[in-house]
Amino acid sequence: MSTYSIMLFPPADSLETDVVLRALVSAHRYLAELKGVARTIPNEGLLISTLSLQEAQSSSEIENIITTQDALYKYQIQPQNADPMSKEVAYYAEGLAIGFKQVRDSGLLTLNTILAVQAVLEGNDAGFRKTPGTELKNEQTGEVVYEPPSPEEVPEMMSVLERFIHDDSKLDPLVRMALIHHQFETIHPFYDGNGRTGRIVNILFLVKEGLLDMPILYLSRYISQTKSAYYQGLQQVRDNHDWEPWLVYMLHGVAVTARHTTRLIEEIRVLLQEYKQRIRKDYRFYSQDLINNIFRHPYTKVAFLEHDLTVSRATATRYLDALSADGILHKHRLGRENYYINRALVELLFNLPELDK
Ligand SMILES: Nc1ncnc2c1ncn2[C@@H]1O[C@H](COP(=O)(O)OP(=O)(O)OP(=O)(O)O)[C@@H](O)[C@H]1O
Ligand SMILES: [Mg+2]
Repeated sequence: MSTYSIMLFPPADSLETDVVLRALVSAHRYLAELKGVARTIPNEGLLISTLSLQEAQSSSEIENIITTQDALYKYQIQPQNADPMSKEVAYYAEGLAIGFKQVRDSGLLTLNTILAVQAVLEGNDAGFRKTPGTELKNEQTGEVVYEPPSPEEVPEMMSVLERFIHDDSKLDPLVRMALIHHQFETIHPFYDGNGRTGRIVNILFLVKEGLLDMPILYLSRYISQTKSAYYQGLQQVRDNHDWEPWLVYMLHGVAVTARHTTRLIEEIRVLLQEYKQRIRKDYRFYSQDLINNIFRHPYTKVAFLEHDLTVSRATATRYLDALSADGILHKHRLGRENYYINRALVELLFNLPELDK
């Protein structure tokens, strides 16, 4: 059993070693590039909704976007009948949105926000753990690798963490993000949803620190593709106080994910341009709002267009049917509704190349 002292936070160890500094340079370079390229997309809601959909999918480890989107839609249409997976994806997307709104409005990342996010993810307001017995296990062997602190210690530890999130610190903000994530997972404040909440906290912290304007750097795909390194990195700190591999793991994740996301946004921008020119040339009903709609919702439907363009149901149907007759969108029937798929965008978003590890 580990002798790690969770009370020593932030750790007194010198964290910014040469290896960490080198990893920091590269992470910051790619992150700055990402922040810049995101600003070239005029409608910010567009990136947030498409990329957060992708994140909700990765975080919930669901195979593909079609399922994810269908899940979200099924949930929107009939929340009371939604299956557990649909709920999980919908809750994740909602938790992220609520967290972002609170951080953007207040400039703070408080315990209340963290509690609110977790409550949305879990669909209940149980709050912090109250009964003992939580254990983290090795998924393969079932062996207990770590026992988080007992419930009565959680509120105080979370307050210390909240203070650290807002303190002036000489540490680099990306190092702080990695420390915060580690401490959060180590306190393990909730019965469930600690992983998902912790991943959302990463994003919210980057926004709070101004490293990004919007929540578009999502580490879930990296974490789920490198899960044993992630668990090992977390655990090595608890077992041996060995911070360097953990920090390098997280910084590398920021770098590769930022690089991939930058490329993806560039491709989305080219596609946006292509669609815009094509629709503007051939359709009198062209408008920027229409383009935004079919890019915000890779699967759009009449009700969404009706709402976004403030047109009648008949008009929205006519527009979407015209675009699908022309092969610009693909009409797909699901249950009693038609969806109109922006296939080129779906391809970009969900047939991503493997991340380099
Ligand atoms: N064997 C382990 N070694 C290190 N960390 C672990 C281990 N098992 C769990 N964890 C930590 O606990 C998190 C899972 O906790 P919990 O089940 O409360 O969250 P979740 O959101 O439901 O799960 P997930 O992160 O898998 O989506 C992991 O993401 C990781 O941070
Ligand atoms: Mg769980």
